Amino acid sequence: MSRTAQEWEERPAVPEGHFVDSRIYTDPLIFNEETQKIFNKTWKFACHVSEIPEIGDYRTFDHAGYPLIAIRSDDGEVRCFVNSCSHRSSVILDAPAGTAKNLTCPFHLWSYDTRGNCVHITRPEGYEEAGICKANRGLRQVRAETMLGLVFVNLDDSAGSLADYIGDGLETFSEILGTHELEVFHYHRVVMSANWKQWHETNMELYHEWGHVVNRTTSVAVKGYHDRMWKLYTNGHGTLEPLAVQYKNYPGWEDRAQKMLPGLTEGEFRVVDLFPNTTLIARSTALRIDTSTPIAPGKTLVEYRGLGIKGESPEDRAMRQKHHNQFWGPLGRNVSEDVLFVEKVERANRHRAAKHGIIARREGGRGQDDEVVRSFYREWKRQMRRDPEDITQLVDAPSISATGSN
Ligand SMILES: [Fe+2]
Repeated sequence: MSRTAQEWEERPAVPEGHFVDSRIYTDPLIFNEETQKIFNKTWKFACHVSEIPEIGDYRTFDHAGYPLIAIRSDDGEVRCFVNSCSHRSSVILDAPAGTAKNLTCPFHLWSYDTRGNCVHITRPEGYEEAGICKANRGLRQVRAETMLGLVFVNLDDSAGSLADYIGDGLETFSEILGTHELEVFHYHRVVMSANWKQWHETNMELYHEWGHVVNRTTSVAVKGYHDRMWKLYTNGHGTLEPLAVQYKNYPGWEDRAQKMLPGLTEGEFRVVDLFPNTTLIARSTALRIDTSTPIAPGKTLVEYRGLGIKGESPEDRAMRQKHHNQFWGPLGRNVSEDVLFVEKVERANRHRAAKHGIIARREGGRGQDDEVVRSFYREWKRQMRRDPEDITQLVDAPSISATGSN
């Protein structure tokens, strides 16, 4: 039966934690609070070490509104700095990636070395009276830590370690990431008209695999698909037991039975969702990492990386690129369909046509259960001190989120 406007507004008759108020995706105050309470304090995936292998190699990116630089310093360490000159604040590096012996600001040619020390002030004698000198004008360093080749950064100098934050969250990817040296062979980015949480939800909930033409036949129809258990970790991360996907079920596609990435078996699918906005997906021969950067409540940058084994043969690399791109390239089946899905949600949320999002699927913690999404929102509630069901007032800090369903 269709519903009246009043009925459409009513709180869904589901247990606590099984729906969200759609304003969490659109309210500018919530967006700003997320920047302050989550992104300013949480470890953020920045890049893979293979993107900055040599001294002076750097990647630039934005995080929590800060322009940042991740760079390989001259002592071999990966460091991160705020990409802002200590003089008149100009962004120093514009290119998304490059190599630099020194980081020189184009405005007045102040320069910094790869450890963030200020090494040149143009006509420095003019600052002697005021006490400005190289020794007190270094760049602002940002914490950077590496795990399994993944570089994470944190703007909060008092936050706990990356190891404490990840916990066991990468256990299903430790062999994949840690056995051979990997390298990024694919990078693309999409600015989508959707909230950052919608993207991460779509990575987390597998119920939407019904929407993917390929997944219906290669995954959902496979024996054991609905039996896999979710495993929830502390801090809002989650993973799912593996599945042997049947790629040959899709016309024209081949098995993924050879040259698998380390630790993976024929057709094997693994996924881990790291709170708040990074997902790793392995499909036997191919590995994808995606991470988002919120731009506005309804606008999100998502960066996609594909990784292969460093030094592998051109034939193996071509195979891996093909398998990667079939699903996850700019014209791949999954990524483009996922962008369509989240933009459709955003279109209905934007002006409050939609009031609630339902996250109420329960399948005993298996496959298409929404428990991992509910776990995400328990962590969101803990950090935001706002209830995603009712964002209008602050709540007492809830206890640490659940630590696993198995
Ligand atoms: Fe999807």
